[in-house]
Amino acid sequence: MKNFWFKLKKPILALAPMAGITDSAFRQICRKYGADVVYSEMASASALFFKPAKTLELVRFNKKEQPYIVQLFGKDPEHFAKAARIITKKIKCDGLDINFGCPAKKVFSHGSGCALMPNIELAREIISAVCENTNLPVSIKIRAGVKNFDALEFIEKTKDLPYSAVMIHGRTYEGGFSGAVDWKIISEIKKIIPDKIVLGNGGILTSKNAREIFEKYPNIDGLGIARGAWGKPYIFDEIKTAQIYNFKKIKKIMLKHAELIWRDKKELGMFEIRKHLAWYIKGFPGAAELRKKLVRAESVEEIKEILNC
Ligand SMILES: Cc1cc2nc3c(=O)[nH]c(=O)nc-3n(C[C@H](O)[C@H](O)[C@H](O)COP(=O)(O)O)c2cc1C
Repeated sequence: MKNFWFKLKKPILALAPMAGITDSAFRQICRKYGADVVYSEMASASALFFKPAKTLELVRFNKKEQPYIVQLFGKDPEHFAKAARIITKKIKCDGLDINFGCPAKKVFSHGSGCALMPNIELAREIISAVCENTNLPVSIKIRAGVKNFDALEFIEKTKDLPYSAVMIHGRTYEGGFSGAVDWKIISEIKKIIPDKIVLGNGGILTSKNAREIFEKYPNIDGLGIARGAWGKPYIFDEIKTAQIYNFKKIKKIMLKHAELIWRDKKELGMFEIRKHLAWYIKGFPGAAELRKKLVRAESVEEIKEILNC
């Protein structure tokens, strides 16, 4: 699949990267229910440089997820260059993404994630290092701004580089994960880079939210959805088809998700699925009772019995 970005039907719906959440099972479920492209959890370029085995395990995937993008974070261009070569050769994913958006203390204080946005020279070196060491399409993920530096300036100063797509989380570094989402800046960015794909991200929790954005900002190529897919991997299909999923359908998805994570991670998967199961049932009648039982389940069979499906 050569530059898949330009073959996707618009508006493009992407499962945004989430550390600890967007594993292979979840990505498969999201693809099955309408996501057009899915991102890995962020993977450390330095870990791939020094000791790649564990990180390669983190980003492996199933063909059903494609198009699938591996996201890298770090701050050293040399590490990014080697990481790009290793992932391209060993993982054979469809694209590489660079994290310029993470505000987490341990990432930001290390000079990675969105701490890189105002450091244009280094950011350019990193983008070039990745582009020169892969034949896969490269994308970047940024924030609306960091301190007094905004995304428009970042894009103006990097737009000549050969990346194909950008996902903009429309909140600033200071806005964290709950501040206002600046959709206007995302729309402005598309005007600066009409030949690249521009995805907006932040606060899309329902299909209604998505439709409002498409109506108000029709020039944006698509959306990245993160927390809106928690317990609702079918949000992508709801956006596309306007159908509403009932609990009977949702229970089937929960079971499929449990089967996939079991296949992939065995006991660890049964532990990790608990948070997903609790998210799936949130707001449904009897959720509290059901939740108590589900978070104790230790096998797919037990989950099936509890769900009565
Ligand atoms: C638990 C969690 C983990 C995240 N991990 C990543 C990550 O690995 N890489 C990244 O670029 N963004 C990461 N993000 C940010 C999301 O991709 C997204 O930009 C942010 O949550 C805003 O979108 P939302 O309002 O749809 O959740 C993470 C967010 C959450 C909540």
